[in-house]
Amino acid sequence: MRKQQRGNEEKMENKIDQSLIPRRTLPGGEQIPCMGIGTFGSDKYGAEAVSEAVYGAVKYGYRLIDCAAVYQNEDSIGRVLGRLFAEKVVERKELFITSKVWNDMHGEGKVLASCKKSLSDLGLDYVDLYFVHWPFPNYHAPGCGGDSRNPDSRPFSVEEFMSTWRQCEELVDKGLVRYIGMSNMTVPKLRAVLPLCRIKPVALEMELHPSFQQPELFAFARAHDILPIGYCPIGSPSRPERDRTAEDVADTELPAVAAAARAHQVHPAIICLKWAVQRGQVPIPFSVKEPQYISNLKCATEDPLTEDEMAAIEGEDRNCRLIKGQVFLWEGAKGWEDLWDINDEITAL
Ligand SMILES: NC(=O)c1ccc[n+]([C@@H]2O[C@H](COP(=O)([O-])OP(=O)(O)OC[C@H]3O[C@@H](n4cnc5c(N)ncnc54)[C@H](OP(=O)(O)O)[C@@H]3O)[C@@H](O)[C@H]2O)c1
Repeated sequence: MRKQQRGNEEKMENKIDQSLIPRRTLPGGEQIPCMGIGTFGSDKYGAEAVSEAVYGAVKYGYRLIDCAAVYQNEDSIGRVLGRLFAEKVVERKELFITSKVWNDMHGEGKVLASCKKSLSDLGLDYVDLYFVHWPFPNYHAPGCGGDSRNPDSRPFSVEEFMSTWRQCEELVDKGLVRYIGMSNMTVPKLRAVLPLCRIKPVALEMELHPSFQQPELFAFARAHDILPIGYCPIGSPSRPERDRTAEDVADTELPAVAAAARAHQVHPAIICLKWAVQRGQVPIPFSVKEPQYISNLKCATEDPLTEDEMAAIEGEDRNCRLIKGQVFLWEGAKGWEDLWDINDEITAL
């Protein structure tokens, strides 16, 4: 018993001081932590491993958890949240939990059903921020290969997207979600939909790492008071095979990242996260390994990068998108670039 108590005390000592964690401000003034933990196991880590990491991460001091229905682990995460509340590690109101509606649940009435399912799996009365995961209803089966196509897939439609968004707005009205956000958007799509929103998105979840900085979309979001949340902040070294191509760059090997890692005597992954926090996006790194997720959050509280290091990493942008989304393409699409409006216009059929 005494041994167990000592073990618990040691763990409690290994807790981050919340007041050291920088905050980001949402429109309306609420402050959220500058970093969260991701929960997509990338076909590599099962629900138990991911949810145990969430448990350890919250005990250590993470307060922002990035979930999604399609990650197929919200029920396991719900169980560890229940444990954390029962053990009085945190209260519900101290956490900022996101979830996302998957592409096969955009239709009329389905967003509410999807949100209720996530709430029930997570064991919560509300989620803090609910995202439209991808801006079209194109669906692929979890774990499918990169070349698989769904014949029902189609290009982005403002009308279809807004019918999904209206349902998200109703979730806010019903008190089931506190804020709503968009993900995997482009500047042309945002230009088209933002004027139509009754409730504006407070956040935009987007791929962001040193070799893929999306400067235009990042600046557009900031100019519209939308907080960028950066996914794959370390360049997703464990991403599924379907999201890998020969041209991909490893962020941790970029010269400016490697040089800063040597100077600060940390793993290059830590440099990617310091850069993200100092740039002003909210990175949501994933890890099931305790030393990794601890050092990830801790790095935001100490030993910042210099202005020169920040500038050198800014110079490493290679426009290297990792999550190309090719499984969401429709018949007749030319290639994954069609999903991302690279000619500054919404791609049509
Ligand atoms: N909205 C969207 O469409 C979308 C898309 C993708 C991801 N996301 C979200 O973003 C989260 C993060 O993205 P991600 O998981 O793809 O990529 P990531 O966070 O860039 O990479 C995660 C991997 O980096 C390695 N890592 C983590 N911390 C490390 C450290 N301190 N030192 C060395 N290596 C470290 C681990 O690899 P090993 O496991 O090999 O150790 C881990 O699996 C996801 O979990 C998900 O919540 C959202």
